[in-house]
Parts: sequence; structure tokens; C-alpha cells
Amino acid sequence: MKAPGTHFFCLTASVAARRIRASLMIKKSAQKIVVANWKMHGNLKQNQALLETYIRTLNNLPNTQVVVCAPYPYLAQLQSLLADTDIAWGAQNIARMERGAYTGEVSAEMLRDFGSTYVIIGHSERSTAYCESDENIAQKFMVAKKYGLTPILCVGETLIEREAGMQENVVTKQLDTIIRMYGAQVFAEAVISYEPIWAIGTGLAATPAQATEMHKFIHDKIAALDEAAADRLKILYGGSVNPQNAVQLMVVKNCDGGLIGRCSLNAQEFEQICAAAEQASQFER
Ligand code: 13P
Repeated sequence: MKAPGTHFFCLTASVAARRIRASLMIKKSAQKIVVANWKMHGNLKQNQALLETYIRTLNNLPNTQVVVCAPYPYLAQLQSLLADTDIAWGAQNIARMERGAYTGEVSAEMLRDFGSTYVIIGHSERSTAYCESDENIAQKFMVAKKYGLTPILCVGETLIEREAGMQENVVTKQLDTIIRMYGAQVFAEAVISYEPIWAIGTGLAATPAQATEMHKFIHDKIAALDEAAADRLKILYGGSVNPQNAVQLMVVKNCDGGLIGRCSLNAQEFEQICAAAEQASQFER
């Protein structure tokens, strides 16, 4: 696994490389991130088989950071199997408080204890089912950063909101809460995943045109407030990514990779999606 410091160094180095390539007018390639969101699936035996295949096929991809986000009880298993690999891991949720009498919660510090470096924040399957407010999500985002975890913040609209043409308003509201509470600079070294809720688990992914529009919107919104932060922010796409649509979604401008649900549970499909990320990394960001 890349240490967070190494990750920062790589980003800094890649920014420098990007500038050199831009000055030479050469097409730049860009590092991608592909995150497996296992959701509430798996058991020790199945996970081991899946992880062994991940390690065999996905360790040390030259242009793609692979991340596995598993249910909490399996973090120790991820740590023991992935510790000597380049594959990073993390959780699918985090407490907004640092510690205390909060029965059932799991803190950022606890995730760090098991070697996690990433955490998914504000996934719609949580924010809808557990009525998480944008303020709570913002607090989780910041507590993750405070403990050196890379937050993967999920944003996106429902089908009704899209049909009403409200997608930009919805994402604006989700991002503005964090910006108002902590400033746009907190998006540096963070990940935002554009996940239209209507695309999650439905088999109906956003079209490349829809993804292009929303990724540009998110990038430009942060860049207008803090260009350096926008340059160091990664923006992923999530929602029914599969081996057939992965390349076309990941070559979208301002798309730095994918957040993958169902297909991450199938080693072969996940490998094909990571191969698509490798291919997409050869295109201009
Ligand atoms: P699917 O890939 O199953 O649509 O799930 C997407 C998702 O929710 C990733 O977080």
C-alpha cells in the first residue's frame, strides 16, 4: 500500500509532471482511483478468495490506485492480506465524533488502527436510510481528514431531481455545507464521487455526456473558490459501472476513476474495470 505521505508526494510529483508535459504540449496521462464498495456483502471465506484474486491481478497497477472499502468487521482481514501490497483499504462509514459514549459507532482513529487510508462518506444508501444531514456528513468528512484518512464524499441527485433539472442545485447544496463549515481548501487531497442515485444498483449508468457535465460542474465549483484544491481533488463516477461502460465513463474529462458496487464482488469484472481505468489513464484528464 502507498503510505499517505507517499501518496502526497506522488500527487505533488504528478502535478509537476503534468506541468512539464503541458509545457511540452504532450498529452498527459493521469492516475486513476478505482474503489470497490463491497457494501454489506461477504464473509471471511469469500473475502479471502476475492482478495487473493485482487492481489494476483491488481497489485501494482502502474496508473491506478485500487481501494477496497469493506464492512467494519473485515478491516483486520484486509489489513492482514493487503498490508504488503499496493492495494489500499478502508471503510464505508465513520462516526462524526472522535470518541465517547456513542454506542455502535466506529471512529476515524479505530479505522486507522486497522491501517485504513480511505473512507466513504455520505453514501446515499446511508444518508437516505439513516437520515444523515449534510452537516453530519460535513463533520464526518473533516474528522476523516483530521485522522489522515482520504474521504470519498458521495454526491448526486435522485431521479425526480434529475427529471426536474435540479442536479446541479442538489450537488451545490451538498458541497456548500462543507465549504460553508470548513472552506473549499479541504477538498485538496480528497475524493468526491458523483453518484447519481438513480444509477446506483439499477444497471442504468449515467451517459458520458451526463457525467461530463456533472464532473465539470463539480471541478469548476471548487476551482472557482480554490484552484489549487481543485487541482489536487479527485472526482470519481459511481453508479452501475461495469466492464462494458467503464472506459467511456472514465475517459470523461475531470473523471479520475470509479466507485464500484456490484461489479467489485466479481473478481473478473472488477479486474476488467481496473483495466479500463488503466486504459483511460492514457487520456487527457
Ligand atoms: P453499483 O455499482 O452496484 O451501481 O453501486 C454503486 C455504488 O453505490 C458505489 O458506491
